Parts: sequence; structure tokens; C-alpha cells
Amino acid sequence: RGTGIAILGIYVADTAYLASRMPKIGETISGSGFSLGPGGKGSNQAVAAGRAGADVHFISKIGNDPFGKMALEIYEQTGVTAEIEVMDDMPSGAAFIFVNDETGDNAIIVYPGAAGTISIADVEKHRDVIEAANVFVTQLEQPAEAALKALQIARTAGVTTVFNPAPANPFDAACYGLTDYFVPNESEAAAIVGFEIETEQDARRAGEEFLKLGVKTALITLGEKGVYIHSPTLSRLIPAISNAPAIDTSGAGDAFIGGFATALSEGLEVEAAVQFGCATAGIAVTRRGTAPAMPTRDEIDALLRISEGRA
Ligand code: RIB
Ligand code: NA
Repeated sequence: RGTGIAILGIYVADTAYLASRMPKIGETISGSGFSLGPGGKGSNQAVAAGRAGADVHFISKIGNDPFGKMALEIYEQTGVTAEIEVMDDMPSGAAFIFVNDETGDNAIIVYPGAAGTISIADVEKHRDVIEAANVFVTQLEQPAEAALKALQIARTAGVTTVFNPAPANPFDAACYGLTDYFVPNESEAAAIVGFEIETEQDARRAGEEFLKLGVKTALITLGEKGVYIHSPTLSRLIPAISNAPAIDTSGAGDAFIGGFATALSEGLEVEAAVQFGCATAGIAVTRRGTAPAMPTRDEIDALLRISEGRA
């Protein structure tokens, strides 16, 4: 068995705009804040895992530009091993993030740039990194065939697989059968099952569908409600954990996945690993930004102690 975590995904620079609402087409409105920082789901997940203390390798592509430099800096600071190709003929990606300055809710447009060219051949080049891990994680911001290829490599090597079908882009149905932990949010789950996920019952029904499709365990993230676990032997909600108000939920799902994968790679059982992920996300939402908001291991452990009444 391998050790540590391998993540395939994209890095982009997040440009976040705070405002009371989204502008309409043809309209200009005044904002109340702006920030620039590292983002991209896979990259955020890697940073979350790195800060949480995991041995994490992040596989991606960036441009030879200032946004790309920002990526390498945060990996350096957070202990993420960068398995990154720097391209001269493609820019690093970027995301437009609207953050509601009252509710903290967000809406995102993401352009993957260099990471949008991640191919099956690129994944092959990093086969050894995937095979050496004990947990592999991917999403759908890079081309879906790259996700499929990486899941195949991981499964064949006996690596535990975590598949986050985000954003809700189409993917090969073969991915389901290669997935140990399938982690959609409410809207990504709804896009697949064809009904809205509003209650715990809905989440359970969606979980049943995902198991029929071939995943071993479904973890449906339900924002402030928590995470619904559905497997053949377990079906329950793990409530969200927090001790301060949410001010920016962008990257919350990534914080959860980075924390969950860290706990899983340390050998925790699913419920405890989900709790660890919830604590990671519970801290990240109290800070602005995505990757820069990820908590340290000490902060996660402290919140877990408070939530278990041991503080
Ligand atoms: O999940 C949040 C991330 O999605 C942001 O960092 C943004 O870059 C988009 O990719
Ligand atoms: Na945040």
C-alpha cells in the first residue's frame, strides 16, 4: 500500500468581487471589496490537505506567468509537492468569483487555461505519483477523460479513490464503478439524479441512486446542514461544525474534501473522516478566499475538540 494523497485537478487564480448582488446584463454596479488569490478546486483541495498535515502531491498544468508563480508559492508554503508542468504557450487559468457581501454566497465562472489541456498522456506521465498514494482525488474542472484515466490507474493500484464531480460537467459513466467515495454537492447531485436535494430523505434517495450506478459510498455535501453519508451499511447526516459565522463559502467543498482525504489517508473510518472534513470546512468558511482560507492541523483539532465538548 502507498502513503499520502495524490490529487489531479486544476489551479486558477481566483479574482473575487464582493457586492450586494450580481450585476444584470448591460449593468455596472459598485462593489465593496476585491481579492486575488490562488484557487481551482483540485489545487484548493491539495492546499487544504497540505495545511491539515498530509503528504500531498498535486498534478496539474499552469502557465509561465504571475498567476502561475502564485500557485508555486502557496504549494511551497503549505507543503504541497507540485507535480506541475509549466506551459509557455498557455496562460494559467482564472476564475471570476462573485461573493454576496451579506450572505457570503457565491457564483463562479472558471476558465481553466493551461490546466484545460490536461490529457490522458499527461496523466500517464504521473502514473507513479498516483500509484504511490493511498488516497487519490479528482474533480471535473480538467477534461473528464483525464479524470477517468487517473481513476483507472488508482483503482488498478488499489488506491482509495475520491471523485468530486464538480462542476456538473458530463463524464464517462465508467467513473462510478471506479469510485470509493463519490462527493457531489446538492446541485451536482441533483444534476445527475434529476430531482432537487432539499431534505435528508432526498440526499438518501440520491445516495441510493449513486450506489446503483456503482460507487461504494456517496458523500453528499449539503452546505450549512453538513454531509450526508450513504453506503450499504451506513446512511446518516453528519452535521456541519462551526464556531463562528460563515462569511465566504467559496472553496468550502474543497476544504471538506482536502480534510476528508487527509483523515482517510491516516486510516480514519468514514464517519470520523467526514467529521474531520466538516471541521476543515467549518473554519474555511469563516475566512475570505479559497486556498488562503484553509486551516492548519492545530486549528482543525481545536474545533473538533470544541464540537466534541472536550475543549
Ligand atoms: O470550489 C471553488 C473553486 O472553484 C474556486 O477556487 C474557483 O477557482 C473554482 O474553480
Ligand atoms: Na472561505
